Amino acid sequence: MRKPIIAGNWKMYKTFDEAIQFVEGVQDKVPSNDNVDAVICAPALYLPTLVQIASEFELAIGAQTMHYENEGAFTGEISPAQLASVAVDYVILGHSERREYYNETDEAINKKVAAALAHNIVPIICCGETLQEREAGTTEQKVAGQITAALAGFDAQQVEHMVLAYEPIWAIGTGKTATAEDANQVCGAIRATVEKLYDSATAQAVRIQYGGSVKPENIEELLAKEHIDGALVGGASLQAESYLKLLEAAANA
Ligand code: 13P
Repeated sequence: MRKPIIAGNWKMYKTFDEAIQFVEGVQDKVPSNDNVDAVICAPALYLPTLVQIASEFELAIGAQTMHYENEGAFTGEISPAQLASVAVDYVILGHSERREYYNETDEAINKKVAAALAHNIVPIICCGETLQEREAGTTEQKVAGQITAALAGFDAQQVEHMVLAYEPIWAIGTGKTATAEDANQVCGAIRATVEKLYDSATAQAVRIQYGGSVKPENIEELLAKEHIDGALVGGASLQAESYLKLLEAAANA
């Protein structure tokens, strides 16, 4: 039985005060992490403060991207060593917005996964297809390729502890959710890819999230599906009330 994991991706939203208010506001309400892993991936600037507040309860804090080098002349970038130095637990890697707007390649993502593991940061590795690819019937091929590239060079034990996230690009921030059946089918294809690359035990252990217009109204249906182990959530993670509803639904799934 895989424990559900709900990760909020705040993207480039919230001022510092709003971020603090949110985390302080959910403090007494986050369900026990016996039942659900609760994560918030916040703007990098706020991470140390949020880690400090969240260390009092069962909320993990993550970053939204990072470089793969530990240090160097990379103006504006943040390194895995720097994230680890403020006790960040998770990092989102290969989000479609990073791939599209910042030219993040499969090769760079693979290096970032290695760097995250070297610092005991859990990578949340994203994959997903464009609308054009879905319509052309190449969705499963696309995500299998992205996942295979991201996992190159890691052994089964390392892969077991990673989180994979299927986010169809056409469903992000559009209000269009993939049907639970479609989402499950692609998450199943991702699991089959892991089985092919490793073995059945690894495929059964790795957690796969769905992301793309997830909200309290559709989370239960998604989590009821065999291959969907949680959600990577943008818009609905910005308000404490809806984020807590997602956690509750996952804790009771
Ligand atoms: P929305 O939940 O706003 O569609 O965003 C999904 C996403 O990109 C999470 O990483």
